[in-house]
Parts: sequence; C-alpha cells; structure tokens
Amino acid sequence: MHRMGKQRTLSIVKPDGVRKGVVGDVVRRFETAGIRIAAMRMLRLTRAEAEGFYAVHRERPFFGSLTEFMSSGPIVVMVLEGENVIARNRELMGATDPKKAAKGTIRAELADNVEQNIVHGSDAPETAATEISYFFSSLDIVS
Ligand code: CMP
Repeated sequence: MHRMGKQRTLSIVKPDGVRKGVVGDVVRRFETAGIRIAAMRMLRLTRAEAEGFYAVHRERPFFGSLTEFMSSGPIVVMVLEGENVIARNRELMGATDPKKAAKGTIRAELADNVEQNIVHGSDAPETAATEISYFFSSLDIVS
C-alpha cells in the first residue's frame, strides 16, 4: 500500500454530539491518534446552509430530515491534518450506521442511529477541499 502523504480533512461534531457533551471525547480520540487539529470553530448552521453542505444528497429520501437535524443546534467544525488523515478519520468514526460500526469507533460507542451519528468526515481529497472551504478561509488554518 502506497503512502498518501500529508492530507487535510473536515471533521464535524454534529448537533447530537454537542448535546451529549462528547466534543472533548471526539477531540481526544483525534489527538490520541496523533492527528493534528489545524482549525476549530463552533457554529450553528441555518437550514439553507445545511442544505448547501449536503447538496450531493439532495435526492435522498433522508435529505429533509438530515438537514433539519444538522441545523437543530450548534456543531463543531475542525480541519484535521496528518498522514493519510482522510482514511484514518474514517476508521476512527466507524461505519455511517452505528449498528454496523466496528467496536471501539466513535459511532459504535456514541451514536444513536444512522442519521444522528455524532460525526461527519470527508470521504476523499476533492470533497475534503470543498468541505473545508465551506467553513474555513485559508487564514483560519494554522500550518
Ligand atoms: P455523513 O457522514 O455526515 O454523510 C451523510 C449523512 O447522511 C450521514 O453522515 C448521516 O448523518 C446521514 N445518513 C446517511 N444514510 C442515512 C440513512 N439511510 N438515513 C438517514 N440518514 C442517513
């Protein structure tokens, strides 16, 4: 397997994670894994902003419910940086559906269901770049 080099990815602690008080738990998992936090901010998305972020899912049956949930309370957005960090973050999160997520992962341990699944993480370098720029300017990211 070839090395992916240093990457950046967008991580979101979703409204359920903030409500449950597990922001610190999620951040600790990243730091313990040696992943560097290059930017971090709390905000609340409007419905329209949630719809913009999840625009690729517009045709999905869960789009309305997902964007309502994502705008239901504050979220914490982070830029994570490190070697192969897109895949490593996805490993730490576990499968989208917490029932299918591997033991010890964030979603297996903390999430209630496939929609309210505590965290989001970019799935590829192109989406990471788009998603990071949705929340952060280059001046916000500490290198
Ligand atoms: P995320 O990784 O943020 O990407 C899209 C989100 O849609 C996903 O996490 C879940 O929150 C949500 N989602 C994915 N599949 C379903 C589903 N079958 N039902 C409801 N929500 C879903």
